[in-house]
Order: sequence, then structure tokens, then C-alpha cells
Amino acid sequence: MKKIVVLISGSGTNLQRIIDCIESGEIANAKISMVLADRNCYGVERAEHANIPNQLIKRGKSFSEHLEKIIPENTDLIVLAGFLSILSSDFTEKFKGKIINIHPALLPKFGGFGMWGMNVHNAVLEAKEEESGASVHFVTSGIDEGEIILQGKVPVDENDTPETLAAKVHAIEYEIFPKAINKILNG
Ligand code: GAR
Repeated sequence: MKKIVVLISGSGTNLQRIIDCIESGEIANAKISMVLADRNCYGVERAEHANIPNQLIKRGKSFSEHLEKIIPENTDLIVLAGFLSILSSDFTEKFKGKIINIHPALLPKFGGFGMWGMNVHNAVLEAKEEESGASVHFVTSGIDEGEIILQGKVPVDENDTPETLAAKVHAIEYEIFPKAINKILNG
């Protein structure tokens, strides 16, 4: 059984999708051993509800060091599912090739510092892009710079608002994230 640690900061709908896909077998031979949050958020309740051990880790100077201590060495995959803290390069080195993130745009466009959540959708609309989407990628010390594993596209319509675009992107996230996780864990 492969062990996944999920890191969250928000409502945790992607976490829920992973929980559901493990249950349905779409993600095979895996369990979420732990959910870690960097702030009080609804995702923690989802973990509680699914009986997954969870912990809140206060943000601050030694945040990544705390994470390193809490996450067991034998963890197979660390999944950033709407996680907004920046990890130290010591941390990304230690778990190199074992950390993945979902980003709500088609990287390498609309990535980097400050590009998260609604900021991304606002920027995509402002740039009058014809399409957006989501990217699952490996996490390295550079923000949103690691190798892309899987992407899914959605059309941007003229009358899209940041909210309607976010909803479309979320829907494509729910498709590609479990696929990427299963691919990494089970080939
Ligand atoms: C998702 O859209 C994810 O791509 C984004 O936060 C949302 C979390 O939703 N992540 C980032 O912006 C990271 N840079 P969720 O909490 O409902 O899964």
C-alpha cells in the first residue's frame, strides 16, 4: 500500500476527490496516511470526516523543518492540493521526485510568486487568453517550475468571470489529478 501525504490550505475539494478515487479504486493500492494544513480550513474537516490523521502546522520561519519532522521518510508521495505555503529547498531536495502540485493554469504561463487561486483566473482573463486549464507538476525549489506531469485544458469564453473560469478549471482538476497520482504511484 503506497502512502500519500496531502498538504492543504483551503476548501479541499481536490483532497475530497483523491479520497473518493482511492475509495473507488481509480487510484489503486494507495492510502492517505496524513493530511497537513497550514491554516484552519474546511479541508481539515474533510480529513476528519474520512478518518484520516490530520494536523495543523503553524506558518512561520521553521515551517518546512516542522513538516520534515512530521512526514515519515517512507512516504511515497506528497501531494499539494491547494496548498499555499512555499516549501524550503531543503524540503524539496529531501523529497525530490516525490512531491507534486496542482496549479490552476496551463504552466509555464501564469505561474510563479503570487499566482494562486483567483489571482490566476483574474490574470488569465485580463490577458484575454482563449484557453486555460490545470497542470500537475513535480515540485522543485522554483515556484511552479518543476516538470509537468499532466495538463488539461478548458476554453475561456468571452463572458467568463473569474468565478465561472475557476469552476471550469476545478472540474478539469478533478479529472487530471487522480490520473496523475495513479500514474506516478502505479505506472
Ligand atoms: C485549486 O484550484 C488549485 O489548483 C489551487 O487552489 C485550488 C484549491 O482548491 N492551487 C493553487 O493555486 C496553488 N498555487 P481546493 O482546496 O478546493 O482543492
